[in-house]
Amino acid sequence: MKKIVAVMLTALMSLSLLAGCGSSENKALVVGTNAEFPPFEYVGDDGQPDGFDIALIKEIGKRMGMEVQIENMDFNALVAAVGNKIDIAIAGMTVDEERKQSVDFSDNYYEALQYVIVMKDSEIAAAADLENKTIGCQLGTTGMFTAEEINGADVKSYNKAVDAVNDLMNGRLDAVIIDKNPAQVFAGKFSDKVKALDGADFEFEPEYYAIACPKGSALVADINKALKEIKEDGTFDKLVNQYIE
Ligand code: ARG
Repeated sequence: MKKIVAVMLTALMSLSLLAGCGSSENKALVVGTNAEFPPFEYVGDDGQPDGFDIALIKEIGKRMGMEVQIENMDFNALVAAVGNKIDIAIAGMTVDEERKQSVDFSDNYYEALQYVIVMKDSEIAAAADLENKTIGCQLGTTGMFTAEEINGADVKSYNKAVDAVNDLMNGRLDAVIIDKNPAQVFAGKFSDKVKALDGADFEFEPEYYAIACPKGSALVADINKALKEIKEDGTFDKLVNQYIE
């Protein structure tokens, strides 16, 4: 009898050890995003966030032995939420000096540029044409910062970029400033009405996307290591082909 109890106890103990082990290997990485930015992040047909960034961070998580949990929130709330509500943020987020005061960024993973969406018959074609115009953008984005620097511009900010595009088509805006790939997706979706103009014609400067981590966090090194592997073994290009090109 004693022997049976002992065997059962041992079995129970090893089971709980196993369980403990498994859960530490699958520690959740809570990742904030704003799924309003195709092709980097959008809500898929199944209601779940999908897109290049989502696939990339899931791949990074896999290589870190962590299970990725996505939290969809307003873009403007992401930086402040890093290290509190969320562990990290991936959201086509441009590295900039002001954000760097609050978060540490991973290595860059994508080069971007602001683009300009206008109505097909618009005469806007160069930087000076944007002066004194009504310009829409997503709240808290580099598109908004870019618009705010234009002489005389009346800047209107939206929580969702698609709402700015809708207001452009409704005649409430003269232009929308947003990153290149989303601009191309929106322009493609409403190609009977609008067109996307290359930001180089407006003298906009290249920007770089990176993952925002808490200041001083060890996550940066782990993420960079995974990112490097993903680039070196061709997975990164595969994701670019799948989601962006
Ligand atoms: N790259 C721009 C920025 O960092 C726009 C990013 C918007 N991302 C999004 N998921 N809505 O400000």
